[in-house]
Amino acid sequence: MKRILFASSEAVPFMKTGGLADVVGSLPKCFDKSSYDVRIVMPKYQCINEKLKELMQYKTHFYMDFAGESRYVGVLEAEYDGVKYIFIDNESYFSGPKPYTDWHWDVQKFMFFDRAVLSALPLLDFRPDIIHCHDWQTGLIPVYLHDSFQGGEFFRGIKTVMTIHNLKFQGNDNSLLFMKLSGLSEYYMTYDKLLMGPDGNMLKGGLVYADAITTVSDSYAEEIKTEFYGEGLDGLMRARAHDLRGIVNGIDYDLYNPETDGNIDFRYNASNAVQMKLENKRALQKQLGIGSGDNRFMIGIVSRLTDQKGFDLIAYMMERICQRDVQLVILGTGEQKHEDMFRYFAGRFPEKVSANIYYSEPLSHKIYASCDAFLMPSLFEPCGLSQLMSLRYGTLPIVRETGGLRDTVQPYNQFTGEGTGFSFTNYNAFDMYNTVMFAHSIYVDHRDEWNKMMQRAMAMDFSWQASANKYREMYDWLIG
Ligand code: ADP
Ligand code: GLC
Repeated sequence: MKRILFASSEAVPFMKTGGLADVVGSLPKCFDKSSYDVRIVMPKYQCINEKLKELMQYKTHFYMDFAGESRYVGVLEAEYDGVKYIFIDNESYFSGPKPYTDWHWDVQKFMFFDRAVLSALPLLDFRPDIIHCHDWQTGLIPVYLHDSFQGGEFFRGIKTVMTIHNLKFQGNDNSLLFMKLSGLSEYYMTYDKLLMGPDGNMLKGGLVYADAITTVSDSYAEEIKTEFYGEGLDGLMRARAHDLRGIVNGIDYDLYNPETDGNIDFRYNASNAVQMKLENKRALQKQLGIGSGDNRFMIGIVSRLTDQKGFDLIAYMMERICQRDVQLVILGTGEQKHEDMFRYFAGRFPEKVSANIYYSEPLSHKIYASCDAFLMPSLFEPCGLSQLMSLRYGTLPIVRETGGLRDTVQPYNQFTGEGTGFSFTNYNAFDMYNTVMFAHSIYVDHRDEWNKMMQRAMAMDFSWQASANKYREMYDWLIG
């Protein structure tokens, strides 16, 4: 039996702010249980839904010296959908209404988590062969393992994998404070280890010390070796190019299945998608109180509202887009300027724009099911799951060709009749606008072509199986 421990700050269904949670919550289900025991360790946030908290069972607790104090570490366990979870509890670090708060506090919080995970392991009846770390929040696990845990018999030979879901966030803080909090010595504060500028950097630590590095698409694996996408770590990415590979994300085909989805008004499959998507569109127009009309080109956006996702391009073109016969349905939260922009246009064009500035799992599914197209003009996109969900629901993505968007959306070609969506190359507002209008023209003037594209989109396979096999190969290779 091979034992893998996923370490993450979020996982569906316990906590989700973005795609990281979808990936960590769904990938472990895809391994053959007779050969792989894949578990997940994450914080027990106070804001986890009460019903889910009821599934957790106290396992043990201990005290750990951390940042100058002896601190409580509770360990709880739960099983959900056949996957075993381990929760690290500490009320002062994991309280509050959201998993992430102030930057400095988050850095300290996840340093604590990383140390607590390793300290808890010998008390569990599970010794992982591999700890698979996800994003900056778990970046110190490979470092601590190297530093103060590897010596003991229990930890000897445990391998680590670091997966980059987003290189932009690195978990850095002033090096003196970083050393004081993490307990790591000056030895680590050099540029070939954790130091970056004046700061200690958690993700860099993970990337230096992990045995293997992955990221969530082939294109992003290439992009992060360049200065533009490298976020200051492109040199390290080039230096570790042999240990770095892209494995594209999948989505949970049980959760995101238009045929069985309890969140949508009218369920469908490829054979009745045209009619049923229309029914869903009518229902959503009614629910959101925007104008009715079967032939209005309805574009969906479900996203964190951050610069990463290309909202400055949309802001620049919003006025023009709203002059056309289109509808925009937005669901998202994030930076104030983007929230305000969508609220403003929803106020000016109430028939055309619906700005839903909150988080809602059910509404997100309704948008994937009801819209004609899905807009995602990202500045950078490690993988992107929303476009995969859209494809699955026959909603054609309009994307910028970057990272995972380039790898998963095949642009429409009028001459060969191929494609599953629409794309543009340069990060340019007019290019985006023209691509949206091109999609609009195909929808209006060549509906047959549009409908064929819908069929092709729905026939794509972005379930986890192929990618889970690649992870499996990597694990096998590491374990030897
Ligand atoms: P990222 O991880 O960069 O945010 P992804 O496309 O990988 O982007 O994943 C985003 C995930 O979060 C998708 O499952 C999407 O449906 C979901 N999501 C984003 N914003 C919201 C929201 N306001 N309400 C519901 N789901 C959301
Ligand atoms: C990150 C990326 C997104 C990716 C997700 C899951 O949040 O922004 O592109 O799909 O992680 O890997």
